[in-house]
Amino acid sequence: MEPIGNVMSRVVGQFETRLLGKEVCEGCGEAVQVVQVISRGSLPGGTFKFGCRCKEIQIVREIMAENERRKFERIVRVFDNESLMPKSLRNATFDTFQASTLEQRAVLQVAREYAGRFNRDEPENLLFTGPYGTGKSHLAVSIVRVLMERGFTGIFITVPEMLTKLKSTYDKKSEFSEGDMLQALKSVDVLVLDDIGAEYSGQSAESWAVSKIFEVMNARQGMHTIYTTNLHSEQLQEKLGARNFSRMCENTRIVRFEGADYRLRKMKK
Ligand SMILES: Nc1ncnc2c1ncn2[C@@H]1O[C@H](COP(=O)(O)OP(=O)(O)OP(=O)(O)O)[C@@H](O)[C@H]1O
Ligand SMILES: [Mg+2]
Ligand SMILES: [Zn+2]
Repeated sequence: MEPIGNVMSRVVGQFETRLLGKEVCEGCGEAVQVVQVISRGSLPGGTFKFGCRCKEIQIVREIMAENERRKFERIVRVFDNESLMPKSLRNATFDTFQASTLEQRAVLQVAREYAGRFNRDEPENLLFTGPYGTGKSHLAVSIVRVLMERGFTGIFITVPEMLTKLKSTYDKKSEFSEGDMLQALKSVDVLVLDDIGAEYSGQSAESWAVSKIFEVMNARQGMHTIYTTNLHSEQLQEKLGARNFSRMCENTRIVRFEGADYRLRKMKK
């Protein structure tokens, strides 16, 4: 084999370099030498910036972005909707929602239209309120399903479950930090906070639970959030505190569900 020294001197011999100047690279901020390489052989010449770290930085940036993306995907899997959803809602879609009364037709239409006009630039929240078993969670799930089919990211979670998950990150063995989880809750395109108000009976509006809910709510300004509750607004206000309640109502359409408990109806059949 030919000694490397020989190869080098042959290749180097085909080039001539000329220093054109020194400058600070606009991309990476390094002091670089601008060198013109003139080729006399078959290899290409050109102008190069010696000491420039732009490429390096670009590669690191891409790797970091990719890692972030993967981490986000892992976290979203922690919030896997199919496992978080109550079994009774596994088949919940717009099509399986029976709209036999006027009220049911109205709420179904609101939900369908909301999903239909959903876009990231025009954020809008919904608050589904009404008694037990009237289909609030059913329609909230249906919206998330439709949107996820269209490529949006979404999480459906009951508030008690969300709080349990956040608490679980305090365990040293937890794969994710509380910050990671909050990040996912704050950044998905659509978040359903199901059964808000059900979680912290007897606690004050300053409790840990309320402060976490508020943090998520607050961070989701300008995004889409859907709340479901069977509390009246006065009760909710009492549970969440006036400030959180008023934040919750910002840009939020209140949709009242009425009628008999569908669960009981099913039992009677
Ligand atoms: N109009 C409907 N058509 C078909 N299924 C319905 C309808 N309304 C409710 N259901 C079903 O009844 C069950 C209870 O509904 P859902 O969980 O949506 O009630 P909810 O209003 O969220 O009640 P809660 O306040 O107790 O959370 C679910 O299995 C749901 O799929
Ligand atoms: Mg519900
Ligand atoms: Zn550079």
